[in-house]
Amino acid sequence: MEKITKRILSGVQPSGDLHLGNYLGAIKNFVSLQKEFECFFCVVDLHAITVWQDPKMLKQKTREVIAAFIASGIDPETNTLFVQSQVPQHAQLTWIFNCVARMGWLNRMTQFKDKAGKNSENVSVGLFSYPILMAADILIYLATHVPVGEDQKQHLELTRNIAQKFNTDFKTDIFPIPEPLILGAATRVMSLRDGLKKMSKSDPSNYSRIMLSDTEDEIVKKIKKAKTDPLPLPVNLEEAKKRPEAINLLTIYATLYDEDLEKVVADYAGKEFSQFKRDLGDLASSKLSPISLEMNRLMKDEKYLDSIISDGKRRASSVAEPVLAEIYEIIGFYRD
Ligand code: AMP
Ligand code: TRP
Repeated sequence: MEKITKRILSGVQPSGDLHLGNYLGAIKNFVSLQKEFECFFCVVDLHAITVWQDPKMLKQKTREVIAAFIASGIDPETNTLFVQSQVPQHAQLTWIFNCVARMGWLNRMTQFKDKAGKNSENVSVGLFSYPILMAADILIYLATHVPVGEDQKQHLELTRNIAQKFNTDFKTDIFPIPEPLILGAATRVMSLRDGLKKMSKSDPSNYSRIMLSDTEDEIVKKIKKAKTDPLPLPVNLEEAKKRPEAINLLTIYATLYDEDLEKVVADYAGKEFSQFKRDLGDLASSKLSPISLEMNRLMKDEKYLDSIISDGKRRASSVAEPVLAEIYEIIGFYRD
């Protein structure tokens, strides 16, 4: 097989409303990377069901992620946009990787510990083995680069270990050792209610996150209400880094504006939060509302979205099928 050098795979779960963390930490980077890489972007519905999903909502949320990709500026013609459960090779490779990955490796995964919390006896087995499915997502396409937010770094380390161990055990070089692409300043966008907690789909408070589907008024209101400390804005980056809510809002501003964080800190040094929040509210609503409008328009055009998903399935399968066949051959599975 010809060696691939610039292929991306990344995934987003259809488990809730997409938020500013997903946009700045992942989707915005996908948009810039599409020029340079061959890209596969996947809605990871198999990952989503590691916690309960309402069957009536799952299909809708799946289409919504595809709509968000397109509305954000990912070209569905030149990139492959698809749904994970439509390409069975992901699940098939997961079983093989279940037999490659070691218990000790998975026991170290901090996201599982955070998500399971005190309830670890009662969560699904899928939640525990979740990073193995993620490794299969990436490696079934022989992807070389994986753009993600900071929270996925450890899962990518595990993917690299699995690729390495498979290659060593079977004396092959089939799998590349994929590189994480954790880009920009907003690699970990924090909750608007608590600067020490990650912005996430599962936070019970709507005020903790800005959603891609929010109206301009909602965005402005959420930023106005965002938690801050009582001081004026920090005078330099060093001070900003010690103030979690301040650095979070400044980072959001810099990333939305495509401006250097240090420059934004300098521009607002010593100023009042009220003014800064007004500017940030205006900036965020002007950047996000075109995306939300386009998402709404696309969501009404189910036929179009379904045609993209069906084309994506065909394109993704045409890569995944021969790779799995080669893996079966390497392992020594009986084939007729
Ligand atoms: P998920 O919502 O877990 O499917 O995440 C989809 C993508 O968004 C992944 O690349 C995550 O790393 C990224 N992401 C999720 N939450 C955040 C956040 N708060 N800040 C930055 N990136 C994030
Ligand atoms: N685990 C990732 C998240 O929750 C989503 C994901 C699944 C993913 N498979 C992937 C990301 C493959 C990158 C590559 O954010």
